[in-house]
Amino acid sequence: MKLAIFASGNGSNFQAIAEAVAIGAIEAQLTLLFCDKKDAYVIKRARSMSIPVISFSPNDFESKAMYEAEILHLLEEEQIDLIVLAGYMRIIGPTLLEVFSKRMINIHPSLLPDFPGLHGIKDAFYANVPETGVTIHYVDDGVDTGPIIAQEKVVIDMLDTLDSLEKKIHNVEHKLFPTVLAKLIKNQQGEGRS
Ligand code: GAR
Repeated sequence: MKLAIFASGNGSNFQAIAEAVAIGAIEAQLTLLFCDKKDAYVIKRARSMSIPVISFSPNDFESKAMYEAEILHLLEEEQIDLIVLAGYMRIIGPTLLEVFSKRMINIHPSLLPDFPGLHGIKDAFYANVPETGVTIHYVDDGVDTGPIIAQEKVVIDMLDTLDSLEKKIHNVEHKLFPTVLAKLIKNQQGEGRS
């Protein structure tokens, strides 16, 4: 099982998954990081763990379809089985989705279907809801709408600030994402053998 992680920013989820792969908790090979931002911190994290990095931006291409076709070509060359979106802040277009349908997983920092989009934590915080959480789901052609695989709640306390809520969400993400991936991959490999 060969994984590609897509990320755009800090990469703390990338690191949590890469560490789980390194200790064998996720039975897969982390083949590459794809990053659409050439100066994102996640690239440093990948290099320090000797994980191959591919990085280019849609701005380098005439269209989003051409950008995704180039990504697809590289993924097919590496025979990637599963794409893991870990803070990849772009909507996946049909070029990638058609080939990787049901083989692409995303993490989102809210209890979907509540607070989809780019600012899941902030939107929940300012909506004054008593709880929010983390969702892991398959990717479809909507924005954070695909079938849900797992969710974990996070209580928003009276004393929480946006900063403390972000920390609580990230702590949940860093445990939930590797655990869910490990189970999913184990199950798929079981199915493959039976
Ligand atoms: C994570 O909180 C992830 O859930 C969120 O971006 C953050 C990336 O953090 N993703 C989305 O909002 C997707 N809509 P990281 O770069 O430290 O892993």
